[in-house]
Amino acid sequence: MKNIMVTGGAGFIGANFIRYVLKKTGFKGRIINYDKLTYAGNLANLAGISRDFGGKRYFFVKGDVCDAQKVPAILKKFDVDVIAHFAAESHVDRSILGPEEFIDTNINGTFALLKTAMNYWRVGGLEGSRFRKDVRFHHVSTDEVYGSLGRTGYFHETTPYDPRSPYSASKASSDHLVRAYHHTYGLPVTISNCSNNYGPYQFPEKLIPLMILNALEGKNLPVYGDGKNVRDWLYVEDHCSAVWTILKKGTPGRTYNVGGECEKTNIEIVRTLCGIMEELCPAKGNPAMKGRKYRDLITFVKDRPGHDRRYAIDCSRLKKELGWKQKYDFEKGVIRTINWYMENKSWIKGIKDGSYTGWIDRNYGKR
Ligand code: NAD
Ligand code: DAU
Repeated sequence: MKNIMVTGGAGFIGANFIRYVLKKTGFKGRIINYDKLTYAGNLANLAGISRDFGGKRYFFVKGDVCDAQKVPAILKKFDVDVIAHFAAESHVDRSILGPEEFIDTNINGTFALLKTAMNYWRVGGLEGSRFRKDVRFHHVSTDEVYGSLGRTGYFHETTPYDPRSPYSASKASSDHLVRAYHHTYGLPVTISNCSNNYGPYQFPEKLIPLMILNALEGKNLPVYGDGKNVRDWLYVEDHCSAVWTILKKGTPGRTYNVGGECEKTNIEIVRTLCGIMEELCPAKGNPAMKGRKYRDLITFVKDRPGHDRRYAIDCSRLKKELGWKQKYDFEKGVIRTINWYMENKSWIKGIKDGSYTGWIDRNYGKR
């Protein structure tokens, strides 16, 4: 791997991935962060990276994965040999309110990238395609493609797809296209289907950062329905190490499930967050709390339409075949996450006042 194009590298997981690869893996090549900077893209997620590696081993290019002119030009300019495709519309609630962008980016965007990668990496004609030996297209996907579980059972890589929201349907569709490009043309692809991530730089529309920020501000903690829906939680750095392991050791054409083996109901998550926050930043000393405890803020609200009941991941393939394992247990990960949100007030302010989009990367334009 010499030149890795990370799509969606200004988002939550993409930015953590870039940070992880440049700082923790010994990787010596270049990373090209290709991101459209939607509401979820935030270059402040990469501020230190841009300062330390910008213009030498880290490059930011603002662009849409659907752009049929720009993507090939960037692949050529940087001689990209690996694409780590994180870019997506990622929030289920938004997909319910407005699915169009999910279809554009997640389906058409993935299709456009696959076509471009194939054209750029192919050696010879379309018939019996052959590819440069060193190349890889890794597609970052979700466990939501498998649908919803009852009280028992797990999602395995062989579980039939049964997506139920516009978001998961768009991700399932993109997974099928990625697989089709492998089976039909031989494009060297890998896919990871991961469970719920949490950690630093997560946009505060998702459950964990929303609850932390609302609690700090003394606002209600809205729990959908009865709060008994179950998710499997993984600290974001463990997802990054999983993607890196798959890029290094994964078999082309293969899918790997990634998960925390940490099932929790939503109400359990919110109560745990409240308890840990009482220790790290007691409500008593928080003027916004006006004498209440964080737990008093929990409010049950109307359920999400079509709300999947339970997700649970079997990630034994990734563990057994590639030797990956999680490093952070839930308590350790959550303490790190709460501390991060408490210590990064200017990042939060940028999100709240909207100034984070269009934040100027000091190295952009110099190359
Ligand atoms: P995010 O919403 O935080 O970030 C998405 C990024 O993609 C943003 O920087 C955005 O600007 C960029 N983007 C969106 N549309 C684009 C386009 N058309 N062209 C280029 N860039 C575009 O998402 P995330 O939570 O970091 O998720 C990253 C990937 O991981 C997604 O593919 C998601 O489906 C998958 N995933 C997420 C989770 C999770 O818990 N967050 C779990 C499993 C899988
Ligand atoms: O499973 C992986 C998926 O996890 C990823 O593919 C998605 O990109 C990511 O957004 C996430 O989807 P969820 O819908 O599970 O995440 P979210 O944080 O939106 O919600 C987690 C659970 O908490 C879910 O059951 C809905 C519930 N919830 C969420 C919010 C925002 C609440 O009860 N209240 C809330 O305010």
